[in-house]
Amino acid sequence: MNKLDNKIIVVTGGNGLLGKSFISHIENEGGTAINADINCKDQLDKNEINLDITSTESIDVKINLIIKHYGRIDGWVNNAYPRTEDWGAKFEDIPFKSWEKNVSWQMNSYFYCMQKVLEIMKNKETGSFINISSIYGTIGPDFDVYDKTNMTMPAAYSAIKGGINSLTKYLASYYGKSNLRVNCVSPGGVLNNQPQSFIDSYEKKVPLGRMATPNDIAPSVVFLLSDQSKYITGHNLIIDGGWTAI
Ligand SMILES: NC(=O)c1ccc[n+]([C@@H]2O[C@H](COP(=O)([O-])OP(=O)(O)OC[C@H]3O[C@@H](n4cnc5c(N)ncnc54)[C@H](O)[C@@H]3O)[C@@H](O)[C@H]2O)c1
Repeated sequence: MNKLDNKIIVVTGGNGLLGKSFISHIENEGGTAINADINCKDQLDKNEINLDITSTESIDVKINLIIKHYGRIDGWVNNAYPRTEDWGAKFEDIPFKSWEKNVSWQMNSYFYCMQKVLEIMKNKETGSFINISSIYGTIGPDFDVYDKTNMTMPAAYSAIKGGINSLTKYLASYYGKSNLRVNCVSPGGVLNNQPQSFIDSYEKKVPLGRMATPNDIAPSVVFLLSDQSKYITGHNLIIDGGWTAI
């Protein structure tokens, strides 16, 4: 018996760094993982669907297709990560239009997926919804780790992920009586070809002494999707090697 046998689970942004690992871990635990990504084609025979989370029309149409093909949705992972080309601008340089777009693309889209999917899950009186957040929804960045790089942590990210954390708690409360669970997973920095100076400073600060890999995060997503976590809702599971503990 696997943890996710017979479960139909949608992962948005399943082609990305974390999404790929979520898909393979869900499949390894017996679940059907539907990759819903802007870079996928509609191929439900391969459990892939083209979804643009920044379009309410796309969300409506693709959820209908998923229900028509699979009959239900047991789990949904809001993970896709659309951002504007100037994502990463310093605070004082952020054009207001970009701020608005990123908030809409990364937070309002998560809201719309939650509104549509939780109402569908409500009819079955069971379901697990996971929002991929970040440690920066909980704490402010340490800008020293970006010294000697052209990287920074965008201001909108804090607003977006903080908002997602709060909305998760709201919805855990709102849908608790319908037996729906809504949780966040908040990773710390994931290793992904960053400049060595960044990796060195980041790892110096992490109690466990290294950045995360996608495989450090995915098992917790599986756990929160599975019935093993059936009494856990409204939680923000931080997976950061201890970064936020100090
Ligand atoms: N990588 C990290 O260090 C890190 C740390 C903490 C949290 N996170 C969070 O994890 C999630 C995934 O991040 P990642 O690093 O894997 O990102 P990524 O850029 O590697 O992957 C994002 C995926 O989203 C897809 N996507 C982009 N726009 C889309 C749209 N409009 N509709 C549907 N799909 C779209 C892309 O095609 C891509 O497959 C994000 O929510 C991010 O905030 C990442």
